[in-house]
Amino acid sequence: MSLNKVLITGSSGGLGMHLAKFFANKGHEIILHGRDKEKLESLKINIIRSGNKAEYIIADLNNEKDLANLCEYSSSENVKILINNAGIICPNLSFSKITDDIIDSMIVVNLIAPIKIINKLSGNLKYVVNINSMVGIEAKKNRTLYAASKWGLRGFSNSLKMEDNPYNILDVYPTNIKTWPERENAMDVNVVVNKIYDSMISNEEELILDGRINDY
Ligand SMILES: NC(=O)c1ccc[n+]([C@@H]2O[C@H](COP(=O)([O-])OP(=O)(O)OC[C@H]3O[C@@H](n4cnc5c(N)ncnc54)[C@H](OP(=O)(O)O)[C@@H]3O)[C@@H](O)[C@H]2O)c1
Repeated sequence: MSLNKVLITGSSGGLGMHLAKFFANKGHEIILHGRDKEKLESLKINIIRSGNKAEYIIADLNNEKDLANLCEYSSSENVKILINNAGIICPNLSFSKITDDIIDSMIVVNLIAPIKIINKLSGNLKYVVNINSMVGIEAKKNRTLYAASKWGLRGFSNSLKMEDNPYNILDVYPTNIKTWPERENAMDVNVVVNKIYDSMISNEEELILDGRINDY
């Protein structure tokens, strides 16, 4: 595929960081994003040392002004590939323990932010990849707000796919990924990243990565 500028939200760590290294090694220019300057700076240096190109932008997706700045910057940088990866992972709390803060931040960061980013960048985009979760397909106990945000993202995306878009949309539904060594029974992050890339360049619309079955 031709080389493009890629915005990967939430690339200061976890899956986003692995995606950033992978796409950079394929020759794409990366716009890293997160809230942690030190982590972003160190990843940028790491990518540049390996002979590839990266920049970063700091933005709290829970802050309207930051989100608007991220969209404006990415638009002006002519981003062609958007990977909506940033997300608040599940706090594993029963609904009775969920506070207003958790409700607001989970819905804003996991659902509203990716929708607004697609909306603002859509004029330039060739590919959109939304990192959803198996919890966006299967309801699970103690996942109320996480499930609400990810089911919302799936509904939004599946409806958007029915429109006449100039970009392909890939939704990714993984189970547990080994983004930290301590995660048990988790899928190899390199396998996950490879599968996401292959599905994206093949213009697939959905990728279910179920680590509970052998041949995911
Ligand atoms: N890991 C898994 O097993 C798994 C399974 C299924 C789905 N997923 C999905 O995969 C995506 C990545 O998960 P992960 O496990 O890699 O998570 P992670 O290690 O916690 O990383 C989350 C990333 O999102 C960013 N982020 C979180 N809140 C933010 C905010 N308010 N504003 C800006 N950036 C924010 C973080 O940036 P800072 O650190 O700079 O704040 C970080 O870069 C998520 O959408 C998650 O739902 C993960």
